[in-house]
Amino acid sequence: MIVRHSAHLLSLFMALAPSLGRAEGPLASFEPTLAPEMAAAIRSADLEAGARYFERKCSQCHDGAKDGGNFKGPHLWNVFGRVAGTHAGFRYSDAMKAVGKPWSFTTLDYYLSDTERAVPGREMNFAGITNPAERANLLAYLSTLADTPPPPP
Ligand code: HEC
Repeated sequence: MIVRHSAHLLSLFMALAPSLGRAEGPLASFEPTLAPEMAAAIRSADLEAGARYFERKCSQCHDGAKDGGNFKGPHLWNVFGRVAGTHAGFRYSDAMKAVGKPWSFTTLDYYLSDTERAVPGREMNFAGITNPAERANLLAYLSTLADTPPPPP
C-alpha cells in the first residue's frame, strides 16, 4: 500500500518535473510570458505616475532623455528592442551580456519584477518592483522613451 502510494507520487512528480524545470529562471535560459492582466494594466497605465516612479527610483543611475547618455547605468532611450547588455560604450556585467534577448514589455516586466532572479549576478543595485500597478505604469513610461515607441502589448 505504502509502496504503491509512493510510486504514484513519483510518477506525479515526473509528470510535473518538466514544467517545474521551466518555471521562473534566469532570462538567459527562460522565456517569460506577459500575464494578460499585466498587458491590460500597461494599456491603461498612468504615464505620469510612471514618469514620477522613474524619477524617484531609476534616474539616479539611468538617463532616459533622447539626448542623454550612459551614467551609472546604461542610457535607456530606445531600450525597447535593444538586446540586453549591448548598448555601445557601457561596461556591462558578464551576467547582463549573457542574457541574449531583446528588451520588450515581457522581458522588462520579468526583469524589473526581480532583477536578481532574471539576471543572477547583475550589477544593478535595485531589487525589483513588486507592485504590479507600479510596474505597469513604469513599463508604459519606459516605452515612450523611444524614437519609435513600440505598440502597446
Ligand atoms: C543603483 C543604480 C541603478 C538603479 C537605481 C537602477 N539601475 Fe538599471 N542598471 C544599472 C546598471 C549598473 C545596469 C547594468 C547592469 C549589468 O551590467 O549587470 C543597469 C541595467 C538596466 C537595464 C538593462 C539595459 C541594457 O542596456 O541592457 C535596464 C532595462 C534597467 N537597468 C532599467 C532600470 C529601471 C527601469 C530602473 C528603475 C526602476 C533601474 N534600472 C534602476 C543601475 C541601476
